[in-house]
Amino acid sequence: MARIPQSFIDDLLNRLDIVEVVDHRVKLKKNGKNYAACCPFHEEKTPSFTVSPDKQFYYCFGCGASGNAIGFLMEYERQSFVESVETLAKSAGLEVPREETPFHREQYARQKNLYDVLEKASSYYQLQLKENRGRDKAVRYLQNRGLSGHIARDFGLGFAPGGWDNLLTKYGLSEQDIDLLVGSGLVIRRAEDDKLYDRFRNRIMFPILDNRGRVIGFGGRVLDDSKPKYLNSPETDVFHKGEELYGLYQARMANRNLEQILVVEGYMDVIALAQYGLTNAVATLGTACGEEHLKLAFKHTQEIVFCFDGDAAGRTAAKRALMNSLTSMEDGRQIKFLFLPEGQDPDTLVRQIGAERFAQQIKNGTPLEDFLFDVAAEGLNIQSMDGRARFSKICAPLLAQLPAGVYRELMFTNLAKRTGLSSAALMELTHEKPQLPDAAPALPAVVDVEPPPVDVPEHSAATIYEHLEGTRFQGAPLPDEQEKQAFRKRTNVALNPVKAATLLLLDNPQLIQQVVLRPDADAAGNEELLRLQNLIDYLQNRPNATFSTLLGFWGGAYGIDSQQELARMLATHELTRDSHLASFESAKVLSHAFAKINHQYHRLTHRQELEQLKSKGLANLNSEEKDRFRQLVQLIQKPV
Ligand code: UTP
Ligand code: MN
Repeated sequence: MARIPQSFIDDLLNRLDIVEVVDHRVKLKKNGKNYAACCPFHEEKTPSFTVSPDKQFYYCFGCGASGNAIGFLMEYERQSFVESVETLAKSAGLEVPREETPFHREQYARQKNLYDVLEKASSYYQLQLKENRGRDKAVRYLQNRGLSGHIARDFGLGFAPGGWDNLLTKYGLSEQDIDLLVGSGLVIRRAEDDKLYDRFRNRIMFPILDNRGRVIGFGGRVLDDSKPKYLNSPETDVFHKGEELYGLYQARMANRNLEQILVVEGYMDVIALAQYGLTNAVATLGTACGEEHLKLAFKHTQEIVFCFDGDAAGRTAAKRALMNSLTSMEDGRQIKFLFLPEGQDPDTLVRQIGAERFAQQIKNGTPLEDFLFDVAAEGLNIQSMDGRARFSKICAPLLAQLPAGVYRELMFTNLAKRTGLSSAALMELTHEKPQLPDAAPALPAVVDVEPPPVDVPEHSAATIYEHLEGTRFQGAPLPDEQEKQAFRKRTNVALNPVKAATLLLLDNPQLIQQVVLRPDADAAGNEELLRLQNLIDYLQNRPNATFSTLLGFWGGAYGIDSQQELARMLATHELTRDSHLASFESAKVLSHAFAKINHQYHRLTHRQELEQLKSKGLANLNSEEKDRFRQLVQLIQKPV
């Protein structure tokens, strides 16, 4: 897809008023400078959702949802970024321009051709189920498994007949067509001898559809007991297993509103459940249910129920799903685990007990909170002190993965109750690596708390101010004692200079024009500092930047999560919440924070140099080195 130029997005955001965009969908009430409403993204009785006309962004103090007008539409209408831009542009009477680079054009054309060939193949397979000479055994197989013709049609089931070159001879008429067949995974080109052959032979075919109903891949099942039982399309330019859910498109089409999504393991499970009227089941494609799968499912529902076999393998799979679920548990969302009787899968069970009783079982599923504490306690004696200690060590890092919100708070409170430990003690344990006994393999990537490589201790803004007295920045006059007191009071917040600078710039992007100094410390490995420097780079070239356009850029460059983090920082921090710093004071504090960052960085390198000289032994230094030694000692001791 061709890119939308950033300049257009900036322009669009500048023209729109987020208050109007939101008010159109969620009625807002004026509340001081801002507007408020009950949050549309979580259940609440008193309004904690606010929209700031100045900053052109929204923030919910209850659930942390935040963003600009585009982000709001993405969340509220469940649209993609591009769709949201298009909706907003339309309401503003604008046409969305596309940056048509040759690369994009080519890529776009190729993708379109891939979709076309996959669609053709799907029609071909479906036709074979009606017309092929060998169709009888395929039809008989489906009948034996209890599938109705109706449901087979709904899911576009087909039949890949025997033979090595059915698709190849039908659709591989030119070099380019053959490339597309190979690129779509339908035809295999053997590496040793470049020999070409159809991937799917003698199989029942399950087309896999994307969010828009386009065929992006296939699963194929053998008609007997041969191996492999299922063969899936490989990863291609249009098919990414880790991001797709089989049956989601059909589920969305069958239900206006998906109150709940059932995650099962197999193609046949999805279809059997649908045949019995449970049209809300989806399956991962032969892989564990990962974070991307969950993100996708939660775009369309607030409740997910996992179905697992009741055996040991099912329980291990459930633990893995649990680990992958934690980061998705925003307030208002729910996850349950359902364990089926041994030897059953949803396909066989629903045929045996019927839809109603199956639905009842779903109702009785184990909520995530219970399942988590259950498995963490496995093999431990919680009555003993040692057992509780180990239990806390397992649970705390898991709970730490939950996104900030009420749910997370409640879980920690629950853990505190179960273990008798204080919240502070539990927080200490959150830095351990999150893991569950035998949920391995495939643990999610661990988000380590980043240690600041530059020597950046926490300083209160008051201390920043203390140092200010010794130095003059930009010729700013020193305020008198009374003013100083008031200033200290206003800025009495614990902050390191990197964070302080970031907040000040978020609050007032134009501030950068008023400050000459720049942080020149090496940001390698220090994400917070890196982000600050990127922020500065961005703002330097955009004198008209607002917080809203900044968010737009940030979301595009670093993803929606980091965008939300910026919004959260701005909305929740005392330093910026009431914008109580006068602009001239802000410029001073910003300038000072920059100086501080540089000083801390240089002090670190100076220290290292000093250590090196020391290690030589003072007596062995030549006079030049001795001078440098003295100089370094002075530099290190000097305050900013
Ligand atoms: P199952 O073997 O449990 O599938 O594998 P199932 O749906 O119950 O199969 P049948 O048709 O009723 O016997 C569950 C899922 O794992 C993937 C498929 O996505 C399957 O639906 N799988 C399984 C494979 O990808 N390859 C295999 O060889 C087996
Ligand atoms: Mn089965």
